[in-house]
Amino acid sequence: MVIKKTAFLAFEGIDGAGKTTLIKNFESVLKKRNISYLSTCEPDGTFLGKELRNLLLTRGKTRKTSKGPEKAEEILQPKAELLLYQAARAQHVETKIQPALTKKKWVLCDRYTASTLAFQSGGRGLEKQMVEELNTLASGSCSPNLWILLDLPPQDSLKRIKERLRKKRKNSPPSPALDIFESKGESFFQRVRETYLSLVQENPHQWLTLDARQKQDELTKILEERLKADGYFME
Ligand code: TYD
Repeated sequence: MVIKKTAFLAFEGIDGAGKTTLIKNFESVLKKRNISYLSTCEPDGTFLGKELRNLLLTRGKTRKTSKGPEKAEEILQPKAELLLYQAARAQHVETKIQPALTKKKWVLCDRYTASTLAFQSGGRGLEKQMVEELNTLASGSCSPNLWILLDLPPQDSLKRIKERLRKKRKNSPPSPALDIFESKGESFFQRVRETYLSLVQENPHQWLTLDARQKQDELTKILEERLKADGYFME
C-alpha cells in the first residue's frame, strides 16, 4: 500500500454530535494503514489551551482571595470569548499542528476555525468578517484539506447529552456539555447548526457533511471512501 499524501482533517458539529467517537474510529483506520497521525482538539490541545478552557468555563466558579472566596459574577463577553479561543488556536497551530504536518503526519483536529464562525459569529452574533480575520491571524495559512461536519438537529443533541449523563450519573460530576447546552439554549445551537450548513454551502467541495444520526461504522466508512476518492489512500 502506498500513501499518496498527508491530510489535515477538521471535525465539526454541535455538542453531542459524536465527533469524539468518529475520530476514535477513524484513528483505527489510520493505525491499520500504518499512517502516523496527531489527534488533537480545540480549545484544549495544548497546556495553554487547557488553562484557557478553564477560564472559558468560569461561570459560577469561586476563587480564593485574601478576603475569602470570591464568586465569578462576570459574564464572559462574546469578544473576550472570541479572543480566548483565538489565543488557544495560535498556540495550538504553532506548537502542535504545524510541526506535525511538517513531519508529514496526518492531523485529526476536533474543532477548528469553523467552530469559531459557528459559535462566536452564528451563535453569539459577532460580525462574521471580524471572526474570519481573527481566524486567519491565529491559524496563518494552516488550513484543513477536508472539513467533516457531523450534522445533527439540536433536539437530538440534547437528548444524547442527557442520555449519556443518565448512564454515568452515579459517580460522575455534572456534565459540562449539559451545562453549556442549558445555559446557551436550543436556539443558540440552532443558529450554530445553520451557520455550519451555510459554510458548507459556500464551499461544498471542502466539506463532507455526514448525518450524525447514522451508525458510527457507516460514518467511518463514508469518510474513508471520500479520502480514497480524493487520493489520500492508495491501494
Ligand atoms: P468541549 O467540551 O470540548 O465540547 P465538544 O466535545 O463538543 O468539542 O467544549 C468545547 C466547546 O467550545 C464547545 O461548546 C464549542 C466551543 N467552542 C467555541 O465556542 N468556539 C471555538 O472556536 C471552539 C474551538 C470551541
